[in-house]
Amino acid sequence: MTRPSNDSPAEPTPWGRKHLLGLEDLSKHEIEAILNTADSFVEVSTRSRKKVPTLLGRVVFNLFFENSTRTRTSFSLAAKRLSADTQDFTASASSISKGESFIDTAKNIEAMGADVMVVRHPTPGAPHLLSKHVGASIINAGDGAHEHPTQGLLDMLTIRRAKGRIEGLTVGLVGDISHSRVARSNIWGLTKLGAHVILCGPPTLVPRGMERLGCEVAYHLDNVLPRLDVVNVLRIQFERDQRSVFPSIAEYFRLYGMTQDRIKKGKPDLLLLAPGPINRGVELTPEVADGPHSAILDQVTNGLAVRMAVLYLLSGKSETKGASVEPPALAH
Ligand code: CP
Repeated sequence: MTRPSNDSPAEPTPWGRKHLLGLEDLSKHEIEAILNTADSFVEVSTRSRKKVPTLLGRVVFNLFFENSTRTRTSFSLAAKRLSADTQDFTASASSISKGESFIDTAKNIEAMGADVMVVRHPTPGAPHLLSKHVGASIINAGDGAHEHPTQGLLDMLTIRRAKGRIEGLTVGLVGDISHSRVARSNIWGLTKLGAHVILCGPPTLVPRGMERLGCEVAYHLDNVLPRLDVVNVLRIQFERDQRSVFPSIAEYFRLYGMTQDRIKKGKPDLLLLAPGPINRGVELTPEVADGPHSAILDQVTNGLAVRMAVLYLLSGKSETKGASVEPPALAH
């Protein structure tokens, strides 16, 4: 049987798009629609009855070819809160080890009735490839160093809820820009919503030409810190060989680590984000991670709402394609 593989949903969704592959593809209006929908789901998560029947009968598969704590579990919980059936697929325990291909694996999962596949893969473009071979909606949960759109969205939601706006803010992305899919999704999303983005890190970890994406590039954190409304501290990705890109962890921490002294040099209402996992004592001190400027755990809470919004917008039923993106009326 031939399965659909184009970008037209088999039936209209509340949003009109079938996949979420990256924030580069989305307009300002589409990003704001997701954030507005997520705001409603943040409110739902505070209720005593948190489950709604929106995706009853839908099947959401998590296909993770890399480890994850936050993204995998929050997509799972988001799907459950929307009453979908969810199933985790773990590559290391699968028949991939017997030689089955990525696409054959996905086609087998689709044959079990998957409506949505949430895909994390070390290869940039893997979710995009899958979107051309299966009929299910594909959500990019992180593809190599390319994009991590729901992380970018949850970072923006956290900023918007804390500051009341994104337009006109100055946001610093600090650390390992080269390997960071979070940085790329933040750059696309924040610049579309009117923020000024400063990329700051060792020259060896900031790719050349990033100014072309509409960012400012800086190499000295102490010079730009006083201008920042938000600082998003990116993880040094020790699983990739970093030995040659800076002299030592101590040297990195001295120049780029977020300490209480640096927090004091920033604006009084400086908002500190970190996508996680964090390396305490490398990118930031424990006091800063757990301190009053930190919104690290708010990001996790908001991530659940963002993932509920994305699942709802991509796979909830709608009578009219492109119609209202407000979530359905949710009973208390
Ligand atoms: N921030 C993030 O994507 O975390 P996980 O790798 O734990 O999903």
